[in-house]
Amino acid sequence: VVRAVLVCGGAGYIGSHMAKCLATRGYAVTVLDNLATGHREAVRWGDLIEADLLDRPSLERVFSGRQFDAVMHFCARSLVGESMVRPYDYYANNVIGTLNLFEAMRHSGVDRLVFSSTAAIFGEPVAETIDEMHPKQPINPYGASKLMVERILSDAAQAHGLRSVALRYFNAAGASPDGDIGESHRPETHLIPNVLKAVLGQGPGLKVFGDDYATPDGTCVRDYVHVDDLAQAHELALGYMDEHEGAHAFNLGNGNGFSVRQVIEAAGRVTGRDVPFEVAPRRAGDPAVLVAASGKARRELGWAPVHESIESIIESAWRWHQSPAF
Ligand code: UFG
Repeated sequence: VVRAVLVCGGAGYIGSHMAKCLATRGYAVTVLDNLATGHREAVRWGDLIEADLLDRPSLERVFSGRQFDAVMHFCARSLVGESMVRPYDYYANNVIGTLNLFEAMRHSGVDRLVFSSTAAIFGEPVAETIDEMHPKQPINPYGASKLMVERILSDAAQAHGLRSVALRYFNAAGASPDGDIGESHRPETHLIPNVLKAVLGQGPGLKVFGDDYATPDGTCVRDYVHVDDLAQAHELALGYMDEHEGAHAFNLGNGNGFSVRQVIEAAGRVTGRDVPFEVAPRRAGDPAVLVAASGKARRELGWAPVHESIESIIESAWRWHQSPAF
């Protein structure tokens, strides 16, 4: 039974919500982060160890000093556009860094891992909704780097008995309902934070990237899933690994697609304010529609997302963005 969890990337957006969820539910949490994109102020649940996965000796020290029952691995570079122009950084951080982590885990006998994967491993969708059987043909280095790690996980299960669950997030969104942590990237590239910043008159102004896609209103459709619902799935994955050997993977989304325009309209309703925006050219690498089929996670993990409406997700993000702590 898992009690002590190392949360790699626990100073980041999804990782910090995970650390809070685990600590609240009685786990012993340790956060490892290099603070390249994470925030020291976001680490309020558990100790922070500053270390970089590309620095093997410091990583070995993390594991030799403490005993962990499982690792959750959120450390990654995660921007599709950036990965197109800096592929080496993506493969180094996301693949080599991850291999270093797996080696350190093996040396210290930690044999359970929950891995942050992504819808980007699927590439251009060939079905209306994406289930686990969908072809995996990433169209950018970010997605390719995550798919490589999924392959490594199945090899590691065979060779070393590593138990793992890869969770493929669609569009992570929202913030902790009490507003103490939330999404804070610099620069911010994600839709919901940019919409709310536009409402607040912050940032460079909201651009809608393309309104000529083959979708009902011409803007891209995405499946937004609340960050705390993602955290719930990770905790369930710990229990799943008690019962199941091998490498497993689940798609995590709400199963509902919302267009960029629908998100903007919902933000207008939630905030009661105007959302100023302009239509701009398409952004490179954006598929028209990405919507998850998450039946497998619901059936096999027992996952039951709580924030199923886009309004509920935006409402939590709005609470955070009005007075962000970092
Ligand atoms: N968008 C805008 N304006 C903005 C920001 C985004 O119009 O200022 C549009 C994008 O073009 C896209 C949609 O809003 O159509 C969502 O964009 P995000 O950047 O919020 O999210 P992505 O779908 O591009 O990316 C997310 C994760 C990636 C992951 C990808 C696929 O951030 O890590 O989903 O799973 F790879």
